[in-house]
Amino acid sequence: MKKNLNTLHQEIYKVKPKDHYFSPGRINLIGEHTDYAGGYVLPIALSIGIYAAVSVRDDKVIAVYSDDFKDQGIHEIHIETLEPPTGNDYIDYIQGLLHKFKREQCPCTHGLNITLMSDLPKASGVSSSAALLVLIGYLLRDQFNLDLSPLKLARYARFVENHYLNLHSGIMDPFVIAHGKQDHAIYLNSERMTYETIPFKLTDHTLILMNTNKPRTLVDSDYNDRVYTVQQATRIFQNYRPIEALCDLSVSDFHQLKDRLGDAKTIQRIEHVIFENERTKQAKEALLDHDFTLFGDFMVQSHESLRYLYEVSCPELDYLVTENLRLGALGARMTGAGFGGTMIALYPNERLPKTFQPLIDGYLKAFNRRLEIFTATASDGVNKR
Ligand code: GLA
Repeated sequence: MKKNLNTLHQEIYKVKPKDHYFSPGRINLIGEHTDYAGGYVLPIALSIGIYAAVSVRDDKVIAVYSDDFKDQGIHEIHIETLEPPTGNDYIDYIQGLLHKFKREQCPCTHGLNITLMSDLPKASGVSSSAALLVLIGYLLRDQFNLDLSPLKLARYARFVENHYLNLHSGIMDPFVIAHGKQDHAIYLNSERMTYETIPFKLTDHTLILMNTNKPRTLVDSDYNDRVYTVQQATRIFQNYRPIEALCDLSVSDFHQLKDRLGDAKTIQRIEHVIFENERTKQAKEALLDHDFTLFGDFMVQSHESLRYLYEVSCPELDYLVTENLRLGALGARMTGAGFGGTMIALYPNERLPKTFQPLIDGYLKAFNRRLEIFTATASDGVNKR
């Protein structure tokens, strides 16, 4: 990848790159749709992601070329006349981040040539947008010697999505991309912003990722609607309990207070969040005990809850969960926002199918979509290479 990136950079800008960076995608093992409710999440950074090569310019232009969007050619962002972005293309994420840096008095003092290449499927629930934002933030921090913690980088990335892209996403994705650790999962409390690294080195098990190839544009999805429901419910419960975030509420408090929420749909959505948060705490203990069977059960419960209570799954994801469990997986579930995207399945090595071809064929027949399959390992977060 690095060799190709170098060649591409020289072809595009006629100059050799000076530095290289890598930012991973992520999957969430469990703790879904809890990070905007102050709950726990348990994601890992992946070994696939986005690569950047950088060279310095002597003007005030940030030039960006992405191998994934060749048809867009070279984008030129002028540092001195920088405005907030107006679209939601990949370059708008970069422009948004540059604008956020400017607002935070973290100026870019000279121009850069940036080339991007990726082995991360896009719009597939493995967080290509947060990977891009954290990559650019990390690269700017390094190029301009800025004093910015990984947490700040994650917060800036979230800010860009929330304020410029109209997506009210939580902190999980940029956080794990900025803090990821090889062979570990990140157990994050999204309210207090404290985290533990939990060993996740699979030797007798394999974690499989299946990309439904059902495109999912979060901005157009019902994601923001779920966030809004959580915010409303939190306000209602705050009339009865001194809570900061929804996930401060215990299961028994939820049972006592749920009728205050009014309609049945809201109650079922909030039930998902409260129980998913509890499940995540228990699933983390199961991981620490190396109890993969129990961990798998939690994955299945999580999926059922996302499917029936939170209603963010889709027929493609449900099909893949059912089929992987039938093939011998200990657990399987959608990961990320849902509505398409990616499914994960945890197999004991002795039950891992030699080939997934029948599943690939069945999926194609059922949905007329190509199934993409990867093996996932927990990897380091964003870094310079
Ligand atoms: C998306 C968001 C995250 C999180 C997940 C659901 O990936 O970016 O903040 O809310 O959905 O768990």
